[in-house]
Amino acid sequence: MTATSSPHYSADNMIPFIDLGAQQAQIRPKIDEALQKVLNHGQYIMGPEIAELETQLAQFTNTRHAISTSSGTDALLLCLMALGLNPGDGVIVPSFSFAASAEVMPCLGAVPIFAEVDHETFTLDPHKLEDAMAAAKTAGVRVVGVIAVGLFGQAADMATITDFADSHGLWVLDDAAQSLGAQRDGKVAGQMAKMTATSFFPAKPLGCYGDGGAVFTDDDELADITKSARVHGMGKNRYQYDRIGMTARMDTVQAAVLLEKLAIFPDELQRRQSLADRYHNGLSGLVTPQKLTNGATSSWAQYCVLLPNGADRNAIQAALKEKGIPTVIYYTQGIHQHPPYAAYPIETGGLKVTAELCERILALPFHAWLDDATQDYIITGVQAALSA
Ligand SMILES: Cc1ncc(COP(=O)(O)O)c(C=O)c1O
Repeated sequence: MTATSSPHYSADNMIPFIDLGAQQAQIRPKIDEALQKVLNHGQYIMGPEIAELETQLAQFTNTRHAISTSSGTDALLLCLMALGLNPGDGVIVPSFSFAASAEVMPCLGAVPIFAEVDHETFTLDPHKLEDAMAAAKTAGVRVVGVIAVGLFGQAADMATITDFADSHGLWVLDDAAQSLGAQRDGKVAGQMAKMTATSFFPAKPLGCYGDGGAVFTDDDELADITKSARVHGMGKNRYQYDRIGMTARMDTVQAAVLLEKLAIFPDELQRRQSLADRYHNGLSGLVTPQKLTNGATSSWAQYCVLLPNGADRNAIQAALKEKGIPTVIYYTQGIHQHPPYAAYPIETGGLKVTAELCERILALPFHAWLDDATQDYIITGVQAALSA
């Protein structure tokens, strides 16, 4: 498989931030064939591709159960239902994440407790969890669990987070929406917590052609509850219900697409790492990339850097845009700063690291099929924008 060479870019001809078309070009005949098969057998709900995908995902993550879902958000919700989250319960979650990591708690009447991230890895800081516990206590909220997020492709320090959780009787849920394919401490994403949720949103490292997600667990009982809850709380028979549930199944069509994409995913993960290395080398000394913990691998869902302190991010983005280089800010604000979340407790330190990251972070174009010439063009553009 080869990457394509780059044309001339400008403000009128922007580099794609994520080029799903370049990926599709690698496997289009296989996707066509897979979709044709679904159209022929017509089992659009829970067709044979669903079982095959779940088997392959369980193998890929080395977990006992992979349960496909309608989205990453629904995967998180199903995990919380399986873990028995009750209204009023508190769940610690980093504020520096996508809204879905926290939104699922209020959806179930529970309370997100916003916690701090590490300033180098950008993932949940295990050493500040005590500050989140203190905030919950002050608010009179009983904490029952922790959601860690594999931000931008890198797993959080799950071992230390789990030690903390164990010592306080809390469960841990891994929001691996961005980090499927990541490894840390000899484990792959999917195995790092009691339950893991991932997303197959098209722009994710492993994405489908619509919405999709999955839950991973080694626990048979939690898997059974999850499977039941994703189909209205269904019991042994179709129209007999054991619990409150929802419609949260993956469509067969999405499973068919994912099976083809999963086949090239290991190769894409290597490409992502090489491209991250090229960015690291080309921008060394100019910006601070997300630090990859020793021995860990990332699926590089995003390539995010911190601009130097005091740099004019708007001006840098504008200069890059002039050259056809798109950039995105993940995230402009911590989740806790958005009005719907204003009433929830935040850790006692005041989320200062989160605030600083929101001010300095910038994501550069990134996908597995980014060609060297285009990446060199981006690197040169960033170098020029920073020295202007
Ligand atoms: C960290 C995180 N959690 C959860 C989600 C939700 O996934 P989805 O968009 O598939 O519902 C996303 C993705 O968008 C995410 O980035």
